[in-house]
Amino acid sequence: MKRINMAVLAGDGVGPEVMRQTLRVLTTVAPDVTHESGLIGGAAWAEHNDHFPKATRELIDRSDAVLFGSVGGPVDQSHLPQWHGCEVNSILALRQYLNLSVNHRPARIFPALRNLSPLKNTRLEGCDEVLILRELSGDIYFGEKRTFESDAGLIAEDVATYTTNQIRHLAHEAFRTAAQRKAQLVSVDKANVLETSRLWRQIFTQVASQYPSVELTHMLVDNCAMQLIINPAQFDVIATGNLFGDILSDAASALPGSLGMMPSASFNADGFGLYEPSGGSAPQLQGKDVANPMAQLLSLALLLRHSLQRNEAASAIEHAIEQTLDAGIRTADICLTGEQAIGTRAFTDEVIARLSPS
Ligand code: IPM
Ligand code: MG
Repeated sequence: MKRINMAVLAGDGVGPEVMRQTLRVLTTVAPDVTHESGLIGGAAWAEHNDHFPKATRELIDRSDAVLFGSVGGPVDQSHLPQWHGCEVNSILALRQYLNLSVNHRPARIFPALRNLSPLKNTRLEGCDEVLILRELSGDIYFGEKRTFESDAGLIAEDVATYTTNQIRHLAHEAFRTAAQRKAQLVSVDKANVLETSRLWRQIFTQVASQYPSVELTHMLVDNCAMQLIINPAQFDVIATGNLFGDILSDAASALPGSLGMMPSASFNADGFGLYEPSGGSAPQLQGKDVANPMAQLLSLALLLRHSLQRNEAASAIEHAIEQTLDAGIRTADICLTGEQAIGTRAFTDEVIARLSPS
């Protein structure tokens, strides 16, 4: 079978409609990038009775990178086999299949949207982007899970585990990343309570000695949640575990003002990358042409830059998005009172009109 540059897994909810627009941008900016679509999540269940079918694994095996959309169905249908366990069996299984261990989640505050942030401009002063590096392969996500009967009724258990190697791998990535930016790294844990966090802190402290140019600070996760809101400018790179990273990245998305603008990139130890919006499938928006395509478009830009070394094409997308925002063009999620919202397709048309082929 032929190798291709990009496996496209649009998934569920707004995934397919946003992906359709994203591929129009790809065709404009880098028409030579080869890609093929596969099924994942509820969409895959509908065809194969499987949330992550073999055909999709084979597609990934012959791809240089994965562009992922979103998975999951409406909450009131979560009992149906199509949606039951959908996220665990698709995106989490996929992360495991690819051994993805480092997840980059940049929360960027676009200059044109500073007034959209729920935070006062004075609090945002000096804050352009907070980058969360989330460990993706360990923690409570992948430890043993069980629910069992006891004398006291049902007991549910999720085990959180971290190995030294998992933490060390993330730590090196975090220090390298911080060294290329502002040389400030905040490692977030719950070392006052958790064993996994005590090991986390110990290893980050050890690894720090190899990166003397980077200033390392340890912060407890509850404090970090508050600090992100009262003084976000103190953060440049935050490194944290799987569960805290999930929660803090949603919290950080409130800084720019919408989760619809947050891309992400996940890598394994060999540098293979999967790129996906940080938000979910938003089934309530499905088929309405209202979803913000920015998170998916920016995820494509990250893929082009990091997996295909197409820096020019990546920057072209990022600049076109910035210019679109500068021109006052908005989807519904980033509209302030009095501003006019346009749909997913029309917003993408505006981005495409500002693209020059690379
Ligand atoms: C995310 C999502 C996933 C996670 C869900 C869909 C399993 O919330 O990517 O942040 O918890 O990792
Ligand atoms: Mg999440």
